[in-house]
Amino acid sequence: METILSLSGISKTFGGIRALSDAEFSLAAGEIHALVGANGAGKSTLIKILTGAHRPDGDCASIELFGKRVSIDNPAHARELGVSAVYQEFSLINTLSVAENMYLGKLPKKGPVVDKKTMTGKAREYLAKLESDIDPAALVSSLSVAQKQMVEIAKALSNDSRLLILDEPTASLSASEVEHLFRNLKRLREQGIGIIYVSHRLEELPVLVDRVTVFRDGRHIVTLPIAEAPKPVIIRHMVGREVQSNRRPPRAGAEELLRAECLSGPTGFEGVSFSLKKGEILGFAGLAGAGRTETARAMFGVDKLSSGKVFIEGEEVSIKCPRDAISHGIAFITEDRKEEGLVLGLSILENLTMAIFRRLSRFGVIGSRADKDEAGSSIQRMGIKCASASQKVRALSGGNQQKVVIGKWLATAPSILIMDEPTRGIDVGSKSQIYDVIHALADEGKGIILISSEIPEILELSDRVIVFAGGKPTAELDPVKTNQDEILHYATAHGVSA
Ligand SMILES: Nc1ncnc2c1ncn2[C@@H]1O[C@H](COP(=O)(O)OP(=O)(O)OP(=O)(O)O)[C@@H](O)[C@H]1O
Ligand SMILES: [Mg+2]
Repeated sequence: METILSLSGISKTFGGIRALSDAEFSLAAGEIHALVGANGAGKSTLIKILTGAHRPDGDCASIELFGKRVSIDNPAHARELGVSAVYQEFSLINTLSVAENMYLGKLPKKGPVVDKKTMTGKAREYLAKLESDIDPAALVSSLSVAQKQMVEIAKALSNDSRLLILDEPTASLSASEVEHLFRNLKRLREQGIGIIYVSHRLEELPVLVDRVTVFRDGRHIVTLPIAEAPKPVIIRHMVGREVQSNRRPPRAGAEELLRAECLSGPTGFEGVSFSLKKGEILGFAGLAGAGRTETARAMFGVDKLSSGKVFIEGEEVSIKCPRDAISHGIAFITEDRKEEGLVLGLSILENLTMAIFRRLSRFGVIGSRADKDEAGSSIQRMGIKCASASQKVRALSGGNQQKVVIGKWLATAPSILIMDEPTRGIDVGSKSQIYDVIHALADEGKGIILISSEIPEILELSDRVIVFAGGKPTAELDPVKTNQDEILHYATAHGVSA
């Protein structure tokens, strides 16, 4: 196959941080090529260089695209050259329609006015090629994550892109959405489009990609045909060592910390009852949309409960807003770090101290010294890769931002932690670091509700598993005795009750 992209000598430094050093990468027409590496390995930076968002440092950088040596000056130039990317954060404008987003900057006109009919028709055509029935007139704000992604891909096709880049596209998709995406990517491959695929979900690579390239600390480590790169081989190249299993002996059941009785809410959960003991990790398994996040949000006071009772250490509590929940010692680490967890324009230190402000001020010691000590120990505990605590969160890699979210909540010294997909977008090495933190919290006697769509993660970490389907618990299982298949059975068992 013809090589359509060949990069070499790519270096990039931000302040004191070396994001890429002398990196190389190549892609063929009609190839899906995975780019993997630990958090902060430089994947997104490489992609941003390809899309003209960043310029490489120095004179050694060489970018050959479709047989020509080019310099990619800005995003518009990248698009002209036939390169499009779907980023970790979407770049669509929420207040515009699907069609307007696709044709922004190249709106078809009839005289001086925008030719809406042509625009809508073309947008529908491109969406149909992706087997998508999204209405081109719908506002982007009304779309699901998977739909926004389809619009981004349709937009790339409408630009005649022959090189498509996807940065962690499956991180928040359901199983059937992932299937749909893969079908489309394979079809684009058949049409000769080259695809760079960045993902932390190593198990999905064999069914999709042709080759895999591993980056570590900003360097190219290895490129292999996928048949020669089973998961353990990839992991070894990623982290430079073997990663061990995290299963630990179950703790003895102790006193009850939290009890939920028959919780129901308008957001889509019904009759949810469970209890959480001190030092226990309670796994909430299920497919996306099973009602786990909705239950958690209501318990934390973000959404309303229509009925049901919550008890903390045996006493009934009324939680009407997140502040109530926090004052009862509950922390909620949300799945969406951008929307609920972090202020990107502030530093790591400021983000970490936002949550501890109340606790520090209670003792009258809001000094930058105390803040910095706290922040420093969080950074260490979570293994956050950064230049210093004063670095802006925006400048951190996606996975490291997620670690700041967790660090921020730990700083509130909660007794109950609800963690919603805490390791989404996190590499295998950092995952085991976060698992260690979760175990340590449980050992300290905290109660942890772990919501995860990754069944192996649930099985490895939990002391007890509750499976959700269709808004209610369908089974309570012992992780040592159950397995993936049984959990999936209950996760798809609508109408069964626990
Ligand atoms: N704009 C920036 N300013 C300062 N540092 C940056 C900036 N962008 C990236 N970095 C740093 O460069 C390094 C590489 O980051 P990059 O986002 O490329 O990693 P990644 O491989 O995509 O990681 P992840 O899997 O966590 O998304 C990180 O240490 C990051 O903190
Ligand atoms: Mg990234």
